[in-house]
Order: sequence, then structure tokens, then C-alpha cells
Amino acid sequence: MSNNLLTVAYIAASALFILSLGGLSNQETARQGNVFGIVGMVIAFIATAIASVQMSAYGLLGAVILPGAIIGAMVASRVAMTSMPELVAILHSFVGLAAVLVGFANFLNPDTALVGVEATIHQVEVYVGILIGAITFTGSIVAFGKLRGLIASKPLMLPARHFLNLGMVAVILWLGYEFMGGPLLTSLQALLAMTAIAGVLGLHLVLAIGGADMPVVISMLNSYSGWAAAAAGFMLSNDLLIITGALVGSSGAILSYIMCKAMNRSFISVILGGFGAGASQSTGAASQPAGEVNPIQVEEATEILENARSVVIVPGYGMAVAQAQYPISEITKKLRDRGTTVRFGIHPVAGRMPGHMNVLLAEANVPYDIVLEMDEINHDFPATDVVLVVGANDTINSSALEDPNSPIAGMPVMEVWKAKTVIVMKRSMASGYAGVDNPVFYKENTRMLFGDARKNVDAILAQLTTQTLAGSRG
Ligand code: TAP
Repeated sequence: MSNNLLTVAYIAASALFILSLGGLSNQETARQGNVFGIVGMVIAFIATAIASVQMSAYGLLGAVILPGAIIGAMVASRVAMTSMPELVAILHSFVGLAAVLVGFANFLNPDTALVGVEATIHQVEVYVGILIGAITFTGSIVAFGKLRGLIASKPLMLPARHFLNLGMVAVILWLGYEFMGGPLLTSLQALLAMTAIAGVLGLHLVLAIGGADMPVVISMLNSYSGWAAAAAGFMLSNDLLIITGALVGSSGAILSYIMCKAMNRSFISVILGGFGAGASQSTGAASQPAGEVNPIQVEEATEILENARSVVIVPGYGMAVAQAQYPISEITKKLRDRGTTVRFGIHPVAGRMPGHMNVLLAEANVPYDIVLEMDEINHDFPATDVVLVVGANDTINSSALEDPNSPIAGMPVMEVWKAKTVIVMKRSMASGYAGVDNPVFYKENTRMLFGDARKNVDAILAQLTTQTLAGSRG
């Protein structure tokens, strides 16, 4: 493939990636967005790995790519939706590691044609690429460990941790000075030392972040992995990698910012690793919710739903675990057929990954126009007859608004307790991901429907169906 054709292929792939991101921003166009992304990636792969004039080692390439592709396909097809964030985290670590390896390969086998300013710029690219790559690599491994429960999700609060981070940054800057223009051995030593320190910095930054902030960490690491890929693109003089990396880097940063806003967290605090996180936790223990819970059985829950004029369904992580979206979709249809207004309220961090609930509901064919964001539905709760909470906990926790000592104080939540009746489906009184007790369970208008969400939702659906049949016969 000539260089001109390669450029055309790269422009086409870049345009498709941009169209893909545009498509993914809306549920109705998300599938099309995915197709654009896949086509763009196929073009990029063929142009770079197969048709490029620089490529000759096809045997070696095949030996590396084929096992990788097979392992990747197997892992991705087996992963449960609820474990997707772990998979994403570990994949980010590979991007980081790839940037480190590309950086070292570039340093040890430099392009001799580069002289003067160009050579200096190239050295900076190598140094920065390895730096971002190493932070992404170790940070993503810790994120994977925390999400999988291999590492405690509690933030690691070392004394003077910010000074420790600042110290590491200062040493990295000094090593950068040593690296630039020094003799080969000194530069290599500086590069190796910087890689080790950047690795420790990545570990420390993510270890210092508590469980509740993990969603932001995942999208921040996504952003870092994009910048690491862009840096690798500069090192390899590959325009497509630069563009793709920048798209991933900037969209990840924007998503992190949006999530921080949704959780009332300071963007800077989260990136700097638990900066100020102690504040809400050190002011004392959150007050314990008082009172007794009010359990309910399936029959009564069905009756309450049948008598409601407006119902809002608020799904959370438990719906994903129970795979209850399919019967929920059926119940929605049945209630709407009866003339009940049914809508869904989605918290931005419900579940375990951005858009988790939207994907599940789309999978179960819930119409998009009744799926609303938190900001769109929150003011409607006082006028709602019944809220059906399906495996959501932190995202409906009233202590965020009512208890200044709560570890999640200030986080915007779905204000479900303002509805006339709230039915909460979960298996026990266990707390959610953030480990915070939930006063909503003890409120007078809350009824707890204990048990596996799938079992209970199936039972409600069966009752609704029987009654509809009986009604049509009678
Ligand atoms: P959570 O607060 O995690 O609560 C989920 C609830 O579902 C649990 O209390 C659990 O109670 C219940 N549950 C689990 N399996 C169930 C089953 N089979 N049937 C019925 N209930 C079941 O969920 P949420 O409200 O969606 O909040 C999400 C949390 O995850 C937030 O803290 C968020 O910050 C965090 N997080 C989010 C993301 C993203 S990006 N969305 C990523 C990482 C972390 P029982 O055990 O009593 O059943």
C-alpha cells in the first residue's frame, strides 16, 4: 500500500472512530456507533499490519496476534456483564504496558535519521510515553484487584501521602533532566528508575481511592490509556494512533468529569488519589438509621403496583446480578397496557460501569423514551405513586442528602423516598458497594421485598399475567 493510500485509510478510520463516538452518545444510535468503530478498526488494522510497506515480518506478527485474538475473544465472550469493569481495567493495564515496551524499544533502537531538535522532541516523547504507560499499567492492575475484591476497596491513607506523591513527581522530573542528552547508559538508568517510580506512583494513586470513587478511577485510567496510546503514536510516527489515543484520552477525561459531577466529587481530588477524602470520613461515624423495616410479600407488592397510576422503576447493580431486566420489561408492558404510567430512573453510576443499566434495559427491549436520567426524574418523585427499586442501594441512599457525616454526603441520589410508596427489592439488609447503611429501608413509606430480584420479579409478572387472563375471561 502506497503512503498516500495509507494516509487515506488512516483518515477514513479516524473519521469512523469519531462517528462511532458520536453514535455511542445516544442509545438509539449506539449499535450503529459500534459498527462504525468496528469498521474503522478493521481498516486501521489492515492498513497498518497487513498492507503497510513497512511490514514484512508477517510470520512473527501472526504468531503474536493470533493467540492474542483467540484469548481476547474467549475472555470477552465469557465475561459476565457485571464483571465487565474488571475486564476493562485489566485491558487498560495492557495498553499501559504496551506504551512502556514501545518506549523502551524506541529508546534502544532509535531512528538515527533524527537529529537536533527533532531528536530532543523524540526523547521527550519516549520519556512521557513510558511515564504515562507505567502509571496506567500499575494503576489499572490495582483497579482490577479492587473491583475483583482481591484488594480491599478501603482507601489506603498513608501519612503525608500527598507529599509522597509530590516527592515522586519531583524525582521523575529530575530523572527526566538526567535522561535528556546524557550518555546512553545514564539515560537508560534514568529511564529504568523513572519507570519503577512511575509504577509505584500509579499503585499509590489508585490504592488511595475508596470504593465509592472507583467508577471515576476506571474512566480516568481509560483516559490515561488513551494518552499512553497517543504517546506511543508519537514515538512510532503513527498519525492514526495519535488521533485514536487523543479521542480515548479526551473522552475518558470528559466522562470522568461528568461522573465526578454526578457524585459530587472534586475532579482534582479524585485524580490526585483521595485528596480530601478523609474529610467526610473523619468527621465521625455516620448516624445509624433507626426504626424497623416493613417487609412485604409478592402478592401485596403486585396489588400496590396494580393500583398505582404512576410507577417509576429504579434499577441498580442487583438487577444486573439477578438478570431481572427481562421480566421487568414484561411487567412494564403489562402495567402500561393497563394505562399505568411507567418510567425508569437511572442514576449515572448505577451498576458497575457507565451506562450499565441502559445497556441491560435496551437488551430487554424497554422503550428508550421511558428511560430517564436522574436529573430528568428526580423532581417527579413527590407526584409518583410507587417506586420499584430493583437491586439499587447506594444510588437511592437518603443519607447522602440527610446526614452530613455520611461518607457519601453530598452525592446526588435518586430521591425515591419522596414517592407515596417505595418497594425495595434486595436479598438482605446488606449495604451496597460503598458500604454505607441506607436509612430509606427504615422509612415509613418503604416496604422491603426480600429475596432474589429475578425470583420476585418473575413472581410479580406471573401474578399480573394470571390476573390479566382472569380479567379478560371475566
Ligand atoms: P449497590 O449500591 O452496589 O447495591 C446493589 C444492591 O443490590 C445490594 O445492596 C444488594 O443487596 C442487591 N443485590 C445484589 N444481588 C441481588 C439479587 N440477586 N437480587 C436482589 N438484590 C440484589 O448498587 P447501586 O445502587 O447500583 O450503586 C452502584 C454502586 O457501585 C455505587 O456505589 C457506585 O459508585 C459503585 N460503582 C459504580 C460503577 C459505575 S461506573 N456504575 C463502577 C464501580 C462502582 P443484597 O446483598 O441485600 O441483595
